Amino acid sequence: MTTQLTIIVAVARRSAIGRRGDLLFHISDDLKRFKALTMGCPIIMGRKTFESFPKGPLPGRRNIVITRNRDYSRDGIETAASLDEAISMCAGVEKAFIIGGGEVYRQAIGRADTIELTEIDAEVADADTFFPEIADTEWHRVTQSETMTDPRSGATYRFVTLKR
Ligand SMILES: NC(=O)c1ccc[n+]([C@@H]2O[C@H](COP(=O)([O-])OP(=O)(O)OC[C@H]3O[C@@H](n4cnc5c(N)ncnc54)[C@H](OP(=O)(O)O)[C@@H]3O)[C@@H](O)[C@H]2O)c1
Repeated sequence: MTTQLTIIVAVARRSAIGRRGDLLFHISDDLKRFKALTMGCPIIMGRKTFESFPKGPLPGRRNIVITRNRDYSRDGIETAASLDEAISMCAGVEKAFIIGGGEVYRQAIGRADTIELTEIDAEVADADTFFPEIADTEWHRVTQSETMTDPRSGATYRFVTLKR
């Protein structure tokens, strides 16, 4: 069975996704959607994204952390020395998620078949991490939600599913 690879990401204007090791927005509905979509599936991430989690590994999912440090080890995670190795660790699994961050998304966008995108209509001037270009020639929008407003930040956002 070929593992279906889905990128899941929340992107603000100018493809911004992060700042100083953290997310740009903590939109409660978005975090709930992330949990609902990824629950039970392996989640593949870069070491810096893993270290941004306040409570360590995300429960109910295999946490596969990519690092060049062969000695890296933390409770509740599996490590991989490359994206390829992380993907091969999911052999036999129907679906796995690539959950970031920027460095890992850049390597994964050519491999994924689906992008679950949260599109946030906000400019973050001091963002320091970005999502790679989503080429219109390669990706098409299959579903798009209505536009919603985050009560905390006031930012408007929508959920979009893209397929290759
Ligand atoms: N908006 C969103 O949806 C979203 C999602 C996730 C993350 N983020 C944000 O993105 C930022 C983190 O992204 P980032 O680009 O700085 O880091 P990252 O992609 O999370 O992690 C980078 C690290 O992953 C390891 N790595 C990456 N490629 C590798 C490879 N081919 N082989 C071996 N190891 C590899 C390296 O770890 P070592 O240094 O240990 O070797 C590298 O330093 C944070 O601000 C985070 O909040 C946003």
